[in-house]
Amino acid sequence: MTEAAAPVPIAGVAMTAIGIAVVRVRETERDDRLYSDPFAHLFVDAAMPSFGARWDELSPLLDMFYEARTVAVRLVDDHVEAAVREGVRQIVILGAGLDTRAFRMDLPADTRFFELDLPETFAFKEPVLTRGGVTPRYERRVLPVDLRGDWAEALLAQGFRADEPTLWVDEGVLGYLLRPDARQVLATLTELSAPRSRFDIGNFAVDPNSGAYLVLRRLVSGADEVPREVAGLGSDIEQWLHEHGWDTTFQTWAEQAASVGRPDTNGGPETGNIVAIRR
Ligand SMILES: C[S@@+](CC[C@H](N)C(=O)[O-])C[C@H]1O[C@@H](n2cnc3c(N)ncnc32)[C@H](O)[C@@H]1O
Repeated sequence: MTEAAAPVPIAGVAMTAIGIAVVRVRETERDDRLYSDPFAHLFVDAAMPSFGARWDELSPLLDMFYEARTVAVRLVDDHVEAAVREGVRQIVILGAGLDTRAFRMDLPADTRFFELDLPETFAFKEPVLTRGGVTPRYERRVLPVDLRGDWAEALLAQGFRADEPTLWVDEGVLGYLLRPDARQVLATLTELSAPRSRFDIGNFAVDPNSGAYLVLRRLVSGADEVPREVAGLGSDIEQWLHEHGWDTTFQTWAEQAASVGRPDTNGGPETGNIVAIRR
């Protein structure tokens, strides 16, 4: 396959998905792995040559983000398993990136996945999967959409059922959206959520202008100076959820990392996950 058939997103926010695939490759190679993603290396092998020297900039960043990001993958796997145990069969992965849960997880046969991400992500992802001869184990719909726009219609057109409970997954995308856009995504998915729907929301009090985050933002934007922007849902989102029909529980990151036997590198008692369940 030529490069044109699987254009590698070496810049822009879609590039971050490749970084997380590297995290999953590293974890999969460990004897004490928290999960196994046997397909992540397909993406990394396909992407690496196009990065050239930029790969050397990406690698040290991944060292800094590895512990937290890899625990997050396992926690989302656990949430998927918990949701299907509760009878949820509809899973929407926001900013799916190079997620392979529809290919690697052991779930009920009638589970349905909807993956949403930017067109450039799927322009790379789908040909790599095809070339690798990898086929999904469950119904899987791919939606090349911008979450800052109107994506609900596209989701409904793909067979999403607003009258069935849904598991919504945000694994590192809403933090890239400006606050009004992130909150609009939450408002939209709230409208689409039948009772017993679930949403797991990371609550990280990070300074986007601190060391690793600033380096990441520079790498993604390709510019030395990147504007300070207020992004993500914000740490006061729990109140909004209560007022809009969600029950919530909060678990600190330290508790969650300890539950899978890994160090707490995210810090702070306010850092953790809000698990929201639709009333
Ligand atoms: C850090 S990656 C995480 C990918 C995946 N969830 C994972 O954990 O491997 C962030 C993802 O969000 C996607 N993304 C960022 N902004 C987006 C937008 N406005 N609309 C749709 N997807 C977006 C990127 O393309 C990228 O795939």
